[in-house]
Amino acid sequence: MRVFITGSKGQLGSAFVERFSANGWDYAAADLDTLDISNPNAVMDALMAYRPALIINCAAYNLVDKAETEKEKAYAVNAEAVRYMALAARKLEATFVHYGTDYVFDGTKGEPYSEGDKPNPLNAYGLSKLKGEEYALQTPGSLVFRLSWVFGKGNQNFIHKLAGWAEKPGPLKISSDEISVPTYAEDIVDVTLEALKCGLSGTWHLTNTGACSRYDWAKQILKERGIEKEVIPASMADFKLPARRPAFSAMSNAALTRELAITIPTWQEATAKFIKSIEASPR
Ligand SMILES: NC(=O)c1ccc[n+]([C@@H]2O[C@H](COP(=O)([O-])OP(=O)(O)OC[C@H]3O[C@@H](n4cnc5c(N)ncnc54)[C@H](OP(=O)(O)O)[C@@H]3O)[C@@H](O)[C@H]2O)c1
Repeated sequence: MRVFITGSKGQLGSAFVERFSANGWDYAAADLDTLDISNPNAVMDALMAYRPALIINCAAYNLVDKAETEKEKAYAVNAEAVRYMALAARKLEATFVHYGTDYVFDGTKGEPYSEGDKPNPLNAYGLSKLKGEEYALQTPGSLVFRLSWVFGKGNQNFIHKLAGWAEKPGPLKISSDEISVPTYAEDIVDVTLEALKCGLSGTWHLTNTGACSRYDWAKQILKERGIEKEVIPASMADFKLPARRPAFSAMSNAALTRELAITIPTWQEATAKFIKSIEASPR
């Protein structure tokens, strides 16, 4: 099957590319340097020329705080571009896979969100991503997976940043009132491919299993990496970030695991596996 993948140098995109290369898939990979997805004509031209049977959109504007002042840019990448990709998928009769976020929720539910819960984004990033989901689903057969706290290869994720912060003197302050689910790019690839095999469509919550605070996650990361560092629980409000964030945006993967008859590793297992992999081949 011919696959076209965007955001191919990001955490998730690069995990797909590695998998496709290893398994001899017929694919084309694009990232910002080769295809700016906020340019509708370029998106259409690239897809119509390659004529994939499957389009996987891993590209996104993920700068949650910056999106507050770059609303148009966030909207162009996270919403408008998705509209054009979905449109192209319909023209090509291709399957379209797109990724959303737990930040479509306002965090007030107090227990893990399921697919039927009503979104109510608190920030510009969440709003742009919600619109993107809606556009993706306008093409029948599209698959939208909402993800949270994604980690994989690269320098953008919390695991990488934490190691840098830990090198500075003094204790680390990490929020203990921000709760979601760390989710490993490799597990997202596994589940996406399984869902495609099963012909799934619609919106699903794809996370590792369980939930934790940033503080809990930081403690586990430091333990796995053998780093001795004092971590002090803090409140999200202490950091005075420009974008409001949901306090409890953990999503349940129960519907997806039931539908596919699979289990997804816990966030602790996934974190440990990722850390082992980066320590085996440091970048
Ligand atoms: N990371 C998270 O914690 C998280 C949480 C929830 C949901 N998600 C969603 O999960 C999906 C995968 O995220 P990820 O963590 O793999 O993201 P990522 O590592 O930030 O990768 C996104 C890729 O998209 C590229 N990109 C940005 N603007 C583009 C444009 N205009 N045209 C083409 N490519 C562009 C980026 O390039 P540059 O790096 O050069 O900008 C980057 O390579 C996204 O839909 C994201 O919104 C992520």
